[in-house]
Amino acid sequence: MLSLVVILSALSFLQLGAAGPYNTFDGDGFPACNNVAQVYRPSTISEIQAIVKDASRKGTPVRASGNGHMWYDTMCSDDPNTIIIKTDAVNRISDLVLKDGVGSVVVEAGVTFPQVAEWLHERGASLGYTLVNWNITIAGAMAMGAHRSSLREHSQASSAALAFDIINGNGDLVHIDKDETSDTWLSATTSLGLLGVIARVKMEVLADFKVYANQITLNEAEVLNGDIYAQISPYVTANYWWWPGPKKFHLRTYGVVPITKSGNAFQNTFSVTELEGKLALGLLNGGQNASLPNFITEGIFYALWRTPNFHDKKTNLPLLSWPVHGYAYDVLIGGLYPDQKPEWEYNLRGKTLELAVPVTQANALLKRVRQLFDQAAKDGKPVTSTYRSGINIKFGKPYDSFLGQTTERVGNRTADWSKGAMMFDFPSFLPTTGDHHRYNEEWYGMLAKTLIDEFPVRPHWTKNTRDVFRQSLKNLDPDSLQRFAKVREQFDPKKTFRSVVGEILGVV
Ligand SMILES: Cc1cc2nc3c(=O)[nH]c(=O)nc-3n(C[C@H](O)[C@H](O)[C@H](O)COP(=O)(O)OP(=O)(O)OC[C@H]3O[C@@H](n4cnc5c(N)ncnc54)[C@H](O)[C@@H]3O)c2cc1C
Ligand SMILES: *[C@@H]1O[C@H](CO)[C@@H](O)[C@H](O)[C@H]1NC(C)=O
Ligand SMILES: *[C@@H]1O[C@H](CO)[C@@H](O)[C@H](O)[C@H]1NC(C)=O
Ligand SMILES: *[C@@H]1O[C@H](CO)[C@@H](O)[C@H](O)[C@H]1NC(C)=O
Repeated sequence: MLSLVVILSALSFLQLGAAGPYNTFDGDGFPACNNVAQVYRPSTISEIQAIVKDASRKGTPVRASGNGHMWYDTMCSDDPNTIIIKTDAVNRISDLVLKDGVGSVVVEAGVTFPQVAEWLHERGASLGYTLVNWNITIAGAMAMGAHRSSLREHSQASSAALAFDIINGNGDLVHIDKDETSDTWLSATTSLGLLGVIARVKMEVLADFKVYANQITLNEAEVLNGDIYAQISPYVTANYWWWPGPKKFHLRTYGVVPITKSGNAFQNTFSVTELEGKLALGLLNGGQNASLPNFITEGIFYALWRTPNFHDKKTNLPLLSWPVHGYAYDVLIGGLYPDQKPEWEYNLRGKTLELAVPVTQANALLKRVRQLFDQAAKDGKPVTSTYRSGINIKFGKPYDSFLGQTTERVGNRTADWSKGAMMFDFPSFLPTTGDHHRYNEEWYGMLAKTLIDEFPVRPHWTKNTRDVFRQSLKNLDPDSLQRFAKVREQFDPKKTFRSVVGEILGVV
């Protein structure tokens, strides 16, 4: 007991802030939690346990947070006594084993994808295909069922997990090993943070490898009327970017090349120079009350997106033609160029919507979205993509996890998920002017409602509003929700880790 008090009093010096909103990566005005009492920044797993033990004793709600890389106010419950445990300082990497090209590594809660990718690269290993873009913690991604894009390889980040150490509602560390027949495992692979704080993950690694990235342009009809499964499934990862204004798609594909292949391609993920940031902001705000500027901006973005968003990592010179080659982690994750910052630092912020549909219904869903674009135009309020890489369309091979987007488990709405899922991810620019409404704002809500009502879509857990979660509930499997709720009850009977998402799903 004494040691607990000592640890907690030492920690109080590390509190980042007191009562107020806890923001997403987008900063002020973009709460992940509307009101929290305290933010702690522990540096060891036992410190996290001490914080949880203390909170649990007092009945204080707790949520873990990595880098706040989410979009809406759905991280916590609405209890203002909530405390946040920011995990970034708990970030050790250990126990690398690599034999005959496969192995494992253990990462702590705050380890990010680029951090472990760099660490593994220095030791001849790599994360494989479950890398997620940007500076996101592995624990945060696995908690929320995050994924890359592939129909051929597993792409949900937690499909690479071999074991979890989870700090439960008592503050105890619970170790669970992979066992796809166990309800505990099927819950832990998309836990939504409701079982507790994921303190450690043991994950699969592969020998380091290089990949190519290639991109071609397709007419809209070639995708809407094409065999989407055949276009995507041959590649280790592949995705589309849809440009509804020019009626084009970019198809981006990646595949393995020999490690001896020359090339140091490094992907620019979300960064722009100051000049580009300012120009884009002016153009995009200009489309708040008028449609045409949005189409003009989209035309510029589309033209820019035809050339590779890659530099040579060693020289920082742009790579001008496809395909490009480099180490997997540089090509698939990439990062910031030296003279650039993430776009949100120039007030380029967005809203988003992401829904998964069985790939067998991919054409039907995209055609329906096209009808809704056409309807908006007919109504005199045409809408298009206002994001610098268009509408992002990703894919997922089936992976069994109770709350995963690509599980084959179906509930009241039968659907065939056995060939995998298409994720329709529609980011849009949020104007900095006026009341921040987007042009034809009502259309976006109508789009979400139409897709949720007409297709058995499942939501991404950090890219949707509360309203989208409420509407999507009817598409989820009641049996999976019930079995998840039982496991959650065992881990956290006092509901210390509750969240708005868990409440909407009825699992807390
Ligand atoms: C620029 C950008 C790119 C992205 N790219 C992708 C992508 O390619 N694919 C994709 O699917 N998603 C993507 N996302 C979404 C992202 O993967 C998820 O939102 C992820 O959960 C964010 O992790 P984080 O570490 O920042 O955690 P936070 O945003 O801080 O937390 C997200 C949720 O996870 C919980 N959580 C965090 N850490 C833990 C822990 N240790 N234990 C238990 N619960 C925890 C939090 O309580 C919260 O509910 C992207 C987001 C951004 C901003
Ligand atoms: C990524 O996140 C870590 C904290 O987890 C932070 O120290 C680092 O500066 C971030 N990197 C970038 C490029 O934002
Ligand atoms: C759009 O109109 C609103 C008022 O309806 C105004 O407040 C806002 O500044 C306008 N946006 C631009 C970019 O002019
Ligand atoms: C699913 O169907 C059952 C039985 O018909 C019903 O009780 C339940 O409310 C339905 N669930 C959802 C989420 O619609």
